[in-house]
Amino acid sequence: MSAASSANPLRDPQDRRLPRIPDPCALVIFGVTGDLSRKKLIPAVYDLANRGLLPPGFAMLGFARRDWGQGDFEGLAQQAAQEHARTPWRDEVWQRLAGNLDFVGGSFSDDAAFDQLAARLDALRDSHGIAGNAAFYLSIPPATFPTVLKQLDRTGMASNSRSGGWRRVVVEKPFGSDLASARELNHLVDSVFSAGDVFRIDHYLGKETVQNLLALRFANALFEPVWNSHYVDAVQITMAEDGGIGGRAGFYDAAGAARDVLQNHLLQLLALTAMEEPTSFDADAIRAEKLKVLRAVTAPRDVERHAIRGQHTQGWVAGSRVPGYLQEENVPAESTTETFAAVRLGVQNRRWAGVPFYIRTGKRLPRRVTEIAVLFKQAPHLPFAPAEVESLGRNQLVVRVQPDEGVTLKFGSKVPGAAMEVRDISMDFLYGEAFTEASPEAYERLVLDVLIGDKTLFPTADEVEASWRVVDPLQAAWAGTAPHPYRAGEWGPKAADEMLAEDGFTWRRP
Ligand code: BG6
Repeated sequence: MSAASSANPLRDPQDRRLPRIPDPCALVIFGVTGDLSRKKLIPAVYDLANRGLLPPGFAMLGFARRDWGQGDFEGLAQQAAQEHARTPWRDEVWQRLAGNLDFVGGSFSDDAAFDQLAARLDALRDSHGIAGNAAFYLSIPPATFPTVLKQLDRTGMASNSRSGGWRRVVVEKPFGSDLASARELNHLVDSVFSAGDVFRIDHYLGKETVQNLLALRFANALFEPVWNSHYVDAVQITMAEDGGIGGRAGFYDAAGAARDVLQNHLLQLLALTAMEEPTSFDADAIRAEKLKVLRAVTAPRDVERHAIRGQHTQGWVAGSRVPGYLQEENVPAESTTETFAAVRLGVQNRRWAGVPFYIRTGKRLPRRVTEIAVLFKQAPHLPFAPAEVESLGRNQLVVRVQPDEGVTLKFGSKVPGAAMEVRDISMDFLYGEAFTEASPEAYERLVLDVLIGDKTLFPTADEVEASWRVVDPLQAAWAGTAPHPYRAGEWGPKAADEMLAEDGFTWRRP
């Protein structure tokens, strides 16, 4: 029998339809009492357990500055999972997980606490058969990364060879606050962990709809031929939030919209939209193509006109009165931090030369919506009287990242009747209708990928640095200027509309 005919397709390592289950391992969460951990990470771990995707030997260790016993941590984790998990509550799943929780209390400069953590991990090797495998999730303020990384180094916890298994580190965004600090941080992380063991989280890449961009583009014959400057007039990427900054004034006021989401989520969406086809779906191949695009992205030359930032005042969002940014708790009264940013970027390569990529994000906009809209050129010739096509706009392909996840194709169609009139209509694909399976939460997917060791959905250090190269000039130009005010509940400042109007476009109203 030939090798080909004896191959079992169910054992094809390339086949990613099969559920992937990590090796026995431990997940250590630093900052386990924080918002991200309670709202996203612990619920994601529960959901994975509920879906049977965690290995039989699994332990979750929390680390935080609390004088807590095991019961306190278990209480916090249970509440977090019950309040925020995506999948239904099942007591037997929780009981099994609860039996594998552990907690170490201490500050990040507390050597004894880290020694204790190292000893616990060693003990788990025998008690849970985790074979030395552990991932360290830094769900902590970036300023504390260096201290924790040094502790992981000092105690030998970061060492694959000492542990006899794999050791990985997960770093949350924002990764640095500009190119220089990102480089420094990359250098520091790489001096403690080997590059292959560093997972930089950008949770947008964990979203099902974002991954679908790759399927849409590279699994179909239909779109790729028109996916270029010959047919595309412009691309608009919007990440709008109706919410404000929550209780995160400390972080947000130092960051602003461009550092918080444009540098990462929005540029990653741009990269996936504009990249060339990867040679395979390997992590390296995909990330190489994204990097090429990010390096080809240019910030606007005329920042004043093509990079608009705004700050919201008070107003009404979804029927509720909301305060202005400056009235939010702990925001300095004279803060000039932007809560809105709209930028016209270019991609300098053969496929995209001359096509503007309009990117915008904002807090307290009318509604929460993230979408990528590819706007096509008008047909070169319309054999209709001008009045007959008055209501015909540009053809558009819109990837609805959230909510109402799906894809819309907008094109002209004849209005029924004796007359000839062409109007825009929409053809919709909705995830919720087309598939019975619900999409996993982004963090569910990403935590699983960390434990499996699949780096496809994690940006590289080079990608992070290339993105800062786009954002740094904006920050430099904005320094010392005042953001344009916009009323909460509006789609950002007028200047952002004018920026598009100058080029003959309007923002989509999603
Ligand atoms: C985070 C930002 O990365 O993304 C937040 O720090 C933002 O400011 C959040 O609210 C939005 O995420 P999502 O998944 O709700 O769109």
